[in-house]
Amino acid sequence: MKILSLFFLLFAIGTAHAAQEPQGVFKRSCGMCHNGQLPMAPREGDSAAWKPRLEKGMNTLVKHVTEGFNAMPARGMCMDCSADDYTHVIEWMSRQN
Ligand code: HEC
Repeated sequence: MKILSLFFLLFAIGTAHAAQEPQGVFKRSCGMCHNGQLPMAPREGDSAAWKPRLEKGMNTLVKHVTEGFNAMPARGMCMDCSADDYTHVIEWMSRQN
């Protein structure tokens, strides 16, 4: 039984620190603006709009999300997102639909 409880403990720790699912983050936060509603915000799935952004490099983009960038608010409305979460959601948003 000890092995089993250890398994559950590890599972609990694992899920608590798990990266957030990009589409979920998008739906809760980024999607308010990056869904085509706000013309200045590059739209999800519009890889052409994302191309010049991606050329700045992922580190710069994550920095801009964290600190804010022009009309985009700091942290992009996702207060509990880590830098990795931002990277994953940016990769998801900039995919080709
Ligand atoms: C309140 C609206 C709003 C929300 C919410 C928002 N954004 Fe943005 N975002 C913008 C706008 C507007 C721009 C374009 C800014 C510009 O180029 O002047 C932008 C630009 C960006 C850029 C490009 C930055 C650059 O350097 O070119 C990235 C990356 C980005 N958003 C990621 C995200 C992520 C990830 C989230 C969610 C965690 C998010 N945004 C949430 C409005 C928003």
